[in-house]
Amino acid sequence: MPKSVRDITSMKNFEKITVITAYDYTTAQLCDKAGVEILLVGDSGGMVMLGYENTIPVTMEQMCFFTEAVSRGRKDAMVVADMPFMSYQASKSQAIENAGRLVKSGADAVKLEGGIEIKDTVRSIVDIGIPVMGHIGFQPQTTTLQEGYRVQAKTKDAALSLIQNAKALEKAGAFSIALEMVTQEISKIITESIGIPTIGIGSGPDCDGQVLVVHDVLGLFEKLKPKFAKRYLELAGDIVKAVTSYKEDVVSGKFPTQEHSFSIDKAELERLRKEIA
Ligand code: KIV
Repeated sequence: MPKSVRDITSMKNFEKITVITAYDYTTAQLCDKAGVEILLVGDSGGMVMLGYENTIPVTMEQMCFFTEAVSRGRKDAMVVADMPFMSYQASKSQAIENAGRLVKSGADAVKLEGGIEIKDTVRSIVDIGIPVMGHIGFQPQTTTLQEGYRVQAKTKDAALSLIQNAKALEKAGAFSIALEMVTQEISKIITESIGIPTIGIGSGPDCDGQVLVVHDVLGLFEKLKPKFAKRYLELAGDIVKAVTSYKEDVVSGKFPTQEHSFSIDKAELERLRKEIA
């Protein structure tokens, strides 16, 4: 039975929440088996799966496609899908419609980047029954355009504004908030000042949970290696090695062998040979 919003929120102050991104059926199945509480269909899929420079070009169609695959692969984890850039900013009705499309594709909840400025949008999505995860701090869809990749909440004023944003999202009905690249001291203050779980990425150890991009965890993505992303494997090198060996075997004739081949019955083959002759 997939985790519910209540299962997630009741973990605050008791047990850390583990979140990992997934964009396809097989990875979702494996991560679900590993026991993570949430599979996040992040718009980071635009970068690691589709090769975009950033998340801005990601479309609703692509997010629905990823979400369908991930939801088919999960058994116990909650599936949260990112609302891509410009899928919720134009109007509340646009936001509700697109949140609904993600739920119809298999998401249990949606995630939106933004703070006070989107509180009414968050409220209207929550009001129709779709759980919302907030996302503040570094917001890849917009901060990239304004100031590039930067650690957030490094000054008193920036920190105060972030705390207000977190409180506004909680008041608007969000069930959790992702904090991206927020100084660890401010993440701790935010975590202690709201009643819903914070899920950190590059935001220190005091958040209620952590999220990482699966390609970083597995060491698959070479283009960008953020300081905060712990790589538990270096699969990129292993994949290149494996495919190189495969190519060498094809060229040298070492692959395929009898072990990988199928045979027709000898008598049947003889009859065929006679007929051909
Ligand atoms: O798209 C994503 O992977 C995310 C995480 C970085 C939180 O939003």
